[in-house]
Amino acid sequence: MNEKTTVPKIVIADKAGFCFGVKRAISMAYEQLANSSGKPVYTLGPLVHNPQVIKKLENDGIKSIEELGAYPIGHLLIRTHGVSPAIRKEAMELGYNITDATCPLVKKIHDIVLELQREEYPVLVIGHSSHPEVQGIVGELEGNCRVAETVEDARNLQPCHKLGVVVQTTALWHNFTEITVELLGKTKELRIFNSICHATMERQAAAEDLAGKVSMMIVIGGRNSSNTRRLLEISLRVNPRSYLVESPEEVQKDWFADITSIGLTAGASTPDYIIESVYEKVRQYVES
Ligand code: F3S
Repeated sequence: MNEKTTVPKIVIADKAGFCFGVKRAISMAYEQLANSSGKPVYTLGPLVHNPQVIKKLENDGIKSIEELGAYPIGHLLIRTHGVSPAIRKEAMELGYNITDATCPLVKKIHDIVLELQREEYPVLVIGHSSHPEVQGIVGELEGNCRVAETVEDARNLQPCHKLGVVVQTTALWHNFTEITVELLGKTKELRIFNSICHATMERQAAAEDLAGKVSMMIVIGGRNSSNTRRLLEISLRVNPRSYLVESPEEVQKDWFADITSIGLTAGASTPDYIIESVYEKVRQYVES
């Protein structure tokens, strides 16, 4: 007798994919291209951490460069992560026509650290020291601040009278809170700014919620995307059957044995068309 099997349900997280900062940066890049008058259009570093989007931008004529001056001077778009004033100055001196697509929420952190410096607070940035956003913030204070990635880093700080703290926009909430608790023992006066952006908070909360309700999770996004990797970490904590894919080709049929539901989420730099194509691939596998 053939038993009737139920097709697993596929659920997309409430908040997934492009955030407003990334949408804004991409539309600014295309606006710059439309007004380029034939001059080359560059982004300093990849506009988003997503290889498919970068490939499309390149095909359309928006090239990602790692170094100023390496190619003929033209238009330059500063990406959502922002840059230090020193890099901005260098680009201006080299003659680039600059469009600033720094996310307003990152720009706000630059303003906060400057304010903290004016008020004579030593500044600590919680985040990854090698991430361009953190490097831009550190550069705003000409390197005159510290960075803590882990609780261990916070533990190793010298005690101080007062301390001002900001956090990378895409940081993990629980990491941020653990580090700030550690900092309480290091200083008499702690001024903390929760600068994790609302798009990150919403995506992390939605991923955690969904991961707890489904048999398995797929996180869609670039492996080099900080916020995508954070989503995977969150999903894995709640649901060990969590996978990261950059494209539908990476979805594997044998993942779907013995499951009743699949949750999908995506980083803030993952476009809708990739989410849709992964959804379609999963649908084909579970229905076949
Ligand atoms: Fe801005 Fe947050 Fe997106 S800082 S670029 S809205 S992930």
